[in-house]
Amino acid sequence: MTSVADRDDPTTAPLFTSTTPTISDLLDHGKVYRPQHDSDLLVEAVQNSDHAVGAAAADLCTGSGVIARAIAHLGARSVVAVDASDDAVRVARALCTDSADRVAVRHGDVATFRGTFDLVTCNPPYVPSPPDGRIQEPGLPRAAWEAGINGRAVLDVVCSAAADLLKPGGNMYVVQSEFAGIEASVTALRSSGLVADVVVERHIPFGPVLSAHAAWLEANGRLEKGRRVELLAVIRAHKRPVPTRPQSR
Ligand SMILES: C[S@@+](CC[C@H](N)C(=O)[O-])C[C@H]1O[C@@H](n2cnc3c(N)ncnc32)[C@H](O)[C@@H]1O
Repeated sequence: MTSVADRDDPTTAPLFTSTTPTISDLLDHGKVYRPQHDSDLLVEAVQNSDHAVGAAAADLCTGSGVIARAIAHLGARSVVAVDASDDAVRVARALCTDSADRVAVRHGDVATFRGTFDLVTCNPPYVPSPPDGRIQEPGLPRAAWEAGINGRAVLDVVCSAAADLLKPGGNMYVVQSEFAGIEASVTALRSSGLVADVVVERHIPFGPVLSAHAAWLEANGRLEKGRRVELLAVIRAHKRPVPTRPQSR
């Protein structure tokens, strides 16, 4: 599959035209998360469904806006894209110029984000990190990946907000690593009344961030010595439609 990161090459990327600003041009020297395997996997999961078609959608933690733009191109009626980083908002607005009639990029925090949607997507920060910030990964902005000691600082917020953000019949897609507890997300989503399951999984080699964390993860028993492959998963959470009552005569 063409990776999202490669799609700024118009020769390999139907989503990008020669007039579309390229992701590489826009990323501004590492201030904004460059789309990676997790971004690809999230788009793939939505692509495997028809949930974007005609949807009022939200893309949480939008970063470069690559997921928001993909959802618009998959047929969403509207997309609200939100990120806590000013740099991400600026880049996402520029990336989504060709879909600006449907994509609204807002600065904001998932913790205070409100609204109800047919489709919600989210690729949050999910890398477990020691509290003292001792692991540095200069190639990526910390806020894009660092997610507290168990990797769940943003995931817990997203899982607990999911039911309120979905319209009846709506779907949320969240991507994360095994190191942030896939089962913990599924359990949290189910406990809020949603139907939740893993819909796509993939083993991928460690990127620069996890490579920098490997020794720490090994030292606290969360990674087998020498393993340098992680499992990524996309979880779909579905809000049941309101049952229709039979007409009384
Ligand atoms: C892993 S990146 C994902 C970027 C993009 N969605 C993608 O898939 O390539 C996570 C993004 O979440 C943003 N972020 C982190 N904490 C946030 C929060 N509490 N509320 C909103 N955005 C947040 C970061 O600024 C970063 O752009």
